[in-house]
Amino acid sequence: MTFEPASPLSGELRPPPDKSVSHRAALLGAMAEGLTRVTGYLDSADTRATLRAVVAVGAEVREGQADEHGGLFVELEGVGLRGPRSAEIDVGNAGTLLRIMPGWLAGQADGEWEFDGDQSIRRRPVDRVADPLRLMGAKVDCRDGRLPPLRIRGAPLHAIDYEMPVASAQVKSCLLLAGLLAQGETTIHEPVRTRDHTERILAAAGAAIRRDGDAITIAPAERLEVGDIPVPGDFSSAAFFLVAALLVPGSEMSLREVGINRNRIGLLSILSRMGVDMGGAHGDHAITIHEIREPGPEPVATLDVRHAELAGVEVGAEDVPAAIDELPLVALLGCFADGETVVSGAEELRAKESDRIASVVEGLAGLGAEIEARPDGFAVRGSRGLRGGTIDARGDHRLAMLGAIAGLASREGVEVTGFDAVAVSYPRFERDLRSLIG
Ligand code: S3P
Repeated sequence: MTFEPASPLSGELRPPPDKSVSHRAALLGAMAEGLTRVTGYLDSADTRATLRAVVAVGAEVREGQADEHGGLFVELEGVGLRGPRSAEIDVGNAGTLLRIMPGWLAGQADGEWEFDGDQSIRRRPVDRVADPLRLMGAKVDCRDGRLPPLRIRGAPLHAIDYEMPVASAQVKSCLLLAGLLAQGETTIHEPVRTRDHTERILAAAGAAIRRDGDAITIAPAERLEVGDIPVPGDFSSAAFFLVAALLVPGSEMSLREVGINRNRIGLLSILSRMGVDMGGAHGDHAITIHEIREPGPEPVATLDVRHAELAGVEVGAEDVPAAIDELPLVALLGCFADGETVVSGAEELRAKESDRIASVVEGLAGLGAEIEARPDGFAVRGSRGLRGGTIDARGDHRLAMLGAIAGLASREGVEVTGFDAVAVSYPRFERDLRSLIG
């Protein structure tokens, strides 16, 4: 798939439904009593794996009409907190499913479950959930002590007070679900705040959950009732268009109904430090954030974006969780900025769908970027542009989309090999992108 240097981006778009919220809506709907109705469920390979997983443990899933943006209407009939049956679960490429769902199953009175997936999932660490689950009394095994397949046998759990060594929303969510079935109150401390979608849905479903500084505490529950969940647009998918509009001169476009959960929009504060002027509807900004509303557990807004000049920026560990999936885009922005862009404290990137430090650095270097890898991030020397060439997606959806945006902003265009990896989170990416470049 080839992406030529583009004419300006214009028009408006509703990005696809949020992947993180879709996974959680299906899981919590399966754990609940009665009917859960999800509007705008993401139709992608990853989130379809979660629907299959909840069916495998006994939940009923009914799919209604897709909306005009491709979001699915999904009704789930839950099995209840203590009702899942034994199953083998194929997570495909979905790390979020692999790491969150075991928390629910570990505390069952009986039953056995096995989680496995594709080649890429088999190199993604699961000791980060297996270790704390074992501290709660869970019976969990994994390959070489740290990799999938992950096997769980139901066992009685007790609460723990746990300091997470890595800032991970997946680990936090896993332990919160385990806490629902543990004896006593479970407390989890996060080194830096991570996305809180699970907490929001749990609170709406009636769980006793509270935050105090860096700590989240959850009490055991008898039942959950989730009800209706509208899924916001995915900020991490919208970010590709946002960056494209910033980079391609003359661009001016709108992204509608984008989720703006504060733990997801770290890219906006990084951009503001790169000199991108942003603000509300009254004013003349490069990024205007308006029409803010809260139709469900998550806030959404419209983002109007136009081309802007950029300065280099330093991104550190405290910035990482809220921008974790957008850091490849920060590398691309750095190529067009004035001065140096350095990302550090981001070793977590090595445990994503690909080793995203190696794949981003090697991928962008192949397109002419002056970029070097560091153990915990990368450094880019801004040269106000990019030549172009060929980039391999390495089976990583976000690398495929990064290559496409690099192509639009480059001088000679970019060929992306393995582009079909986009199906993991955004099957309509190419169509949506082409609708903005006319
Ligand atoms: C996710 C959390 C992040 C993120 C991933 C989705 C989630 O991973 O990179 O794409 O839905 O909880 P970590 O929690 O491992 O940082």
